[in-house]
Amino acid sequence: MIHGYRFVVSDTPYTGPCSSKNILTVNGQFPGPTINVVRGDTLVINVYNNATENITIHWHGVKQPRNPWSDGPEFITQCPIQPGTRFSQKIDLSDEEGTLWWHAHSDWSRATVHGALIVYPKTTNSYPFPQPHAQVPIILGEWWKSNVQEVLDEFLENGGDPNISDAYLINGQPGDLYECSRSNTFRMTVDYGKTYLLRMINAAMNNILFFSVANHELTVVGTDGAYTKPFKSDYIAISPGQTIDLLLEANQQPSRYYMAAKAYAIAGNYNNTTTTAIVEYSGQFTPPSSPLLPNLPDFNDTNASASFTGKLRSLASQDHPIDVPLNISNNLFFTLSINTRPCDNNSCDGPFNERLLASVNNISFVTPRISILQAYNNHIRGVYGDNFPSNPPLKFNYTADIIPRYLWRPDNRTEVYVLEYNSTVELVFQGTNTVAGIDHPMHLHGYSFYVVGWGFGNFDKDRDPLNYNLFDPPLQNTIAVPRNGWTTIRFKANNPGVWLLHCHLERHISWGMETAFIVKNGKNPEAQMLPPPLYMPRC
Ligand code: C2O
Ligand code: CU
Repeated sequence: MIHGYRFVVSDTPYTGPCSSKNILTVNGQFPGPTINVVRGDTLVINVYNNATENITIHWHGVKQPRNPWSDGPEFITQCPIQPGTRFSQKIDLSDEEGTLWWHAHSDWSRATVHGALIVYPKTTNSYPFPQPHAQVPIILGEWWKSNVQEVLDEFLENGGDPNISDAYLINGQPGDLYECSRSNTFRMTVDYGKTYLLRMINAAMNNILFFSVANHELTVVGTDGAYTKPFKSDYIAISPGQTIDLLLEANQQPSRYYMAAKAYAIAGNYNNTTTTAIVEYSGQFTPPSSPLLPNLPDFNDTNASASFTGKLRSLASQDHPIDVPLNISNNLFFTLSINTRPCDNNSCDGPFNERLLASVNNISFVTPRISILQAYNNHIRGVYGDNFPSNPPLKFNYTADIIPRYLWRPDNRTEVYVLEYNSTVELVFQGTNTVAGIDHPMHLHGYSFYVVGWGFGNFDKDRDPLNYNLFDPPLQNTIAVPRNGWTTIRFKANNPGVWLLHCHLERHISWGMETAFIVKNGKNPEAQMLPPPLYMPRC
């Protein structure tokens, strides 16, 4: 089935926690419209830019088979949609099932331009778990009282950290623990004895979040548009970009309970007020003076975050087989670093009065002036280089406590890594402690990948691969590389195109923690990129 949607992007007056301002929205809604489709459907989205700034829309976790033209990241697969113009995206949803989402992929506009994309199985009731009574998207977001574009311009100008946001949100609301929160805290009503599927999306800009429901155990059943082996947990940790599907059984004393979210972060940039919404049982009960709050791990509990993520497993069953590449043609090792560089008069706001940057293999990505996909397709030279290194330029103790900063200044370049069609990739992400050790939720466009291993400290190429999980590794599109640790992913390069790889912490991508893969065409016509649509935006 083909579904057509109009996405009208505009500056919309909006009253949020403690402030009224204009925000960018799609169709006047925040969070934006939820799109419901069945696996195998096609979406045609006509985006009209009625706002005063550039925009693009990305379909996070959708593989866009052979069709990078509809992927959306600005200056990677398309030029931005300029004010007063439009762009049409055609999206094939044949290869994913579960919770995904869409968001703007242009500067920081995704703060308010995002929404859920739910892909239902082809036949009803064919979930690999009991049919839930109802399904509820839960979108976690982040709110600044000031204009987000100004927050971005300011920290890029002064070279320091961005201003801390003012609140986290659950379906657009910070909850009634906030001083100036509105009375319309998000509420979900449940019937005793029934089971609900919570479709969680972390749309926050800069933090991994912990989430939990008071008194209720949660059963994790999916992540990133793929099912997982069910497991029970009191809380979840969810990275920006990631989605998690949860079953919530309404099996407690009928009452009112808080669901709550809280940032997990090591660096200073977090808001530690608990964000809440309410789970309320139907029927009669004596309401508590205040709903019970769940216990959430501490804001700096790296083990709580990493150990939750490490529990995710593929179903790896007959109905849901896995296909982990075993013979690897490309062995890649990418370091993820926060860096600094001296600036004029040593007057920047970063550490040592320098400018903050971020890099992959010591290259801090420079946004090109036209899209890499258009340059690649039309053989335009001088837009990007195809020499992204498969290994870092320097070896050292990446996760040592003190790393002299002169050891490693980044290069500013636009480099991509080229992959042959159908070649196999193993990619080790190594976090470093060059300026600050922090988790990096790494996201790859155009693919889901198997997460075959992770650990703390420096990756040991002789020992660590012996412990890889090649039996039921989870299939994900975003994976939090733990602070001072490493994570290994594998995938087969069977989707030709230009595909962005980046940290989904917005400040890190703004500092350059990104690169792209060009996956070449194969020999057969079915192994080649589709031709561009008749109209692509111009830069
Ligand atoms: Cu959620 Cu590059 O995107
Ligand atoms: Cu990062």
